[in-house]
Amino acid sequence: MPPATRSVRRCWRPTPAALSTDFPYSADLYTGVHAARRRAFGTTMYRALGIERDDQAARDAYQTDSLRFYGAPHVALLFLPSNGEVRMAADLGMYGQTLLLALAAYGIASCPQGLLSFYAGTVREQLEVSDRKLLFGVSFGYRNPDAPGSAVLTGRAGLEETTRFHL
Ligand SMILES: Cc1cc2nc3c(=O)[nH]c(=O)nc-3n(C[C@H](O)[C@H](O)[C@H](O)COP(=O)(O)O)c2cc1C
Repeated sequence: MPPATRSVRRCWRPTPAALSTDFPYSADLYTGVHAARRRAFGTTMYRALGIERDDQAARDAYQTDSLRFYGAPHVALLFLPSNGEVRMAADLGMYGQTLLLALAAYGIASCPQGLLSFYAGTVREQLEVSDRKLLFGVSFGYRNPDAPGSAVLTGRAGLEETTRFHL
């Protein structure tokens, strides 16, 4: 594992006090069908992991694992310039998607993680990055088929649900 990955992994502080987001986040961002899909995926994932809804200790442990890149040996942290805003976030999102596809083409599994950006201050400090805002991270490595949850796939809404055609 590269020293930088090790350094960041060691330093994640999954405590509310360490939270520092460069871009505002609130669970209320998701409404309607998006909130429903998010809930449904959470239910499926927690079920696959054998975590009960009210088992806070198990949920916290999962969160900690997530902040350690789910055991992946590498992470790419995607930043915007300090004046970055939503239009640039679109560019970075496209870059991120291309990165995921390129990794997949080489047989490497990945997990984009918005959660990693919740500790932007810690990341910047550890990597000595300044003048950059952290949007998300991508943990990657070879897939471990035995890891609980690794077989869970997100459903895909049908074309008729996501697209309106004006003919
Ligand atoms: C922008 C973005 C941010 C995400 N953030 C997280 C995250 O913080 N933690 C997490 O476990 N999954 C996160 N996910 C979901 C996973 O990366 C992944 O999409 C999910 O495990 C389903 O994978 P699949 O689409 O290949 O089925 C995020 C996905 C995207 C696109």
